[in-house]
Amino acid sequence: MNAKQAAAEKAVSYIHDGMTIGLGSGTTASFAIDAIGRRVREGLSINGVASSLRSEALASKAGIRLVPFSEVKSIDLYIDGADEVDKDFNLLKGGGGALLREKILAYNSKMFIVIIDSAKLVDTLGKFKLAVEVTPFAMELTIQNLENLGCLPNIRIENGKHYITDNGNLVIDCAFNMIKDVQKLSASIHAIPGVVENGLFANSMVGKIIVGYEDGQVREIEGRGNNFSSFRD
Ligand code: 5RP
Repeated sequence: MNAKQAAAEKAVSYIHDGMTIGLGSGTTASFAIDAIGRRVREGLSINGVASSLRSEALASKAGIRLVPFSEVKSIDLYIDGADEVDKDFNLLKGGGGALLREKILAYNSKMFIVIIDSAKLVDTLGKFKLAVEVTPFAMELTIQNLENLGCLPNIRIENGKHYITDNGNLVIDCAFNMIKDVQKLSASIHAIPGVVENGLFANSMVGKIIVGYEDGQVREIEGRGNNFSSFRD
């Protein structure tokens, strides 16, 4: 079992019958979807809400019953990966381009468990480019405003074309190199008209971080966002 899978399997062990589970996106979250599928085939009864069309397809293939966002009343647990986690447990996400739906799930979940391998732990966010989802309309002005915040912006390209999110928008990958004040930068990005969402997730959303290691061991770190013991009871 590799590091990502070890973290994913541990997170899935917290799922119980009757829960509504937010399903993340990316390679680590895919291990979680596989593990949930396995438990569903063994009799676990849950609903899933997918953070991307790709995860939706994986989840249906794994036999997980899915509910659309429009029908979700509350989400018990959201399990997803991250591109970077800083020492204060803020996250940088969006490497897979699913940041908008991911942030909606993180914000609306009673518990958010972040699953990562140890390479994702950093002192300060920003080495990994920050994904910013923007409307295609007026993107030139939006990009200029992002550049004014001190980043080097690049429109994300996939297969030679602009990458289009599941919501019909573009992603601008912003190289900040070092993000000193996560909350302040996130607020400044949000203030730009044309920005839909950015990949900075404040530590107040994070309930638990599970770090996986190559030998299959995991370390669980309590986050700042949720009270994990009350969730478990
Ligand atoms: C997708 C994400 C992913 O969680 C993030 O990119 C980590 O991916 P991986 O688990 O493949 O390293 O934010 O938008």
